[in-house]
Amino acid sequence: MSGPLEARLVESLAGFKRDGVYKRLNYLEGPQGPRVRMEGRGEVIILSSNNYLGLSAEPAVIAAGKDALDRFGAGTASVRFICGTFTIHRELEAVLAAFVGTAASLSFVSCWNANEALPTTVLTEHDLVLSDRLNHASIIDGIRLAKAITRCQTGVYEHSDLADLEAKLAAAQDRQVKMVITDGVFSMEGAIANLPGLAEVCRRHGALLVVDDSHATGVLGTTGRGTAEHFGMLGQIDVITSTLGKALGGAAGGFVAGSVALCDYLTQRGRPQLFSNALPTTVAGSAMAAVRFLESHPERVTTLRNNVRYFRERLTEIGFKPLPGETPIVPVIIGETAAAIKVSEMMLDEGVFVTGFGYPVVPQGTARVRCQLSAAHTRDDLDQALDAFRRVGRKLGLV
Ligand SMILES: Cc1ncc(COP(=O)(O)O)c(C=O)c1O
Repeated sequence: MSGPLEARLVESLAGFKRDGVYKRLNYLEGPQGPRVRMEGRGEVIILSSNNYLGLSAEPAVIAAGKDALDRFGAGTASVRFICGTFTIHRELEAVLAAFVGTAASLSFVSCWNANEALPTTVLTEHDLVLSDRLNHASIIDGIRLAKAITRCQTGVYEHSDLADLEAKLAAAQDRQVKMVITDGVFSMEGAIANLPGLAEVCRRHGALLVVDDSHATGVLGTTGRGTAEHFGMLGQIDVITSTLGKALGGAAGGFVAGSVALCDYLTQRGRPQLFSNALPTTVAGSAMAAVRFLESHPERVTTLRNNVRYFRERLTEIGFKPLPGETPIVPVIIGETAAAIKVSEMMLDEGVFVTGFGYPVVPQGTARVRCQLSAAHTRDDLDQALDAFRRVGRKLGLV
């Protein structure tokens, strides 16, 4: 490729490098786990993975993926309604629905796809969709696409601001369907959405509540069923979207869970379903095994919770000020993007892989390193990571 586009891309990439915001990919030579072999680095402690329950390398989860590959082959070689749907998809969807407390679910190749399919398929020009300001990029883009495709009205309410949401719903009484979408756990903050408050506001305004539980599935609630279980609201949330690419095996895949009619309608009309292949059967097998593993090992969730408490307390003792919370996402605000990236580079030199996030992923001036904990971390892993934080913090004058 040559010409103005290539020139623009090359110039922009050079700018990212100059500004210290260029992302270098780190290559892993083995399975995801609390410690992993990183190309050119040797063994490092992973403190930046969504492998919250440590299930991506769990033998039963791997075996189920292999078994599905043997039984069903590599794939259908077409989309579900044309070439047939594997029975394992139906089984997975029933398991997922039962797990998150809905009547039905429909799987997608990613939660990105699920979040894109939902508003673009079910809304019309008579409807409104409102989104929390800090929602995940997939929700934001799904809503942008929905606006372009369906001409629905769209809006953003301030982060977790029930009064703002209420005002925006009150101003939209002419709308046939009012949909409110929130992350269950906000991925850059680790904060939990106020589901009881949101559900109450939605109920008063006849709005539908959609919760993206990607960082909560397998994580929140005594048995890992997500934000609804955390608040004692299992079975009370209209629609849940979530990923299979984090706690539930970590490969890829996502789903929409809700009523039978919703999932049927998405099957009939959802463009990411109609025009794109199904979730690979290996992933379906692994994800189903992950749910079953969790159902018989709820103590994994307790271990995760204990690790979170331990790590947060020690990090605070060292002198860092992580954003308060109780989820395994522990963000430490550094300030400027380049500074956050510097911290993550120095941590990697210390043998700890923790990612720095800056603008535009988070607002200017709030760049951070985001620690993510797993039930698979031992106390030894956590202590070693904390020692590294102490040394890096002192060198940079942060603690
Ligand atoms: C809140 C949230 N929603 C959706 C996604 C997308 O999930 P997937 O990787 O399955 O597309 C992510 C992934 O980072 C996420 O954090």
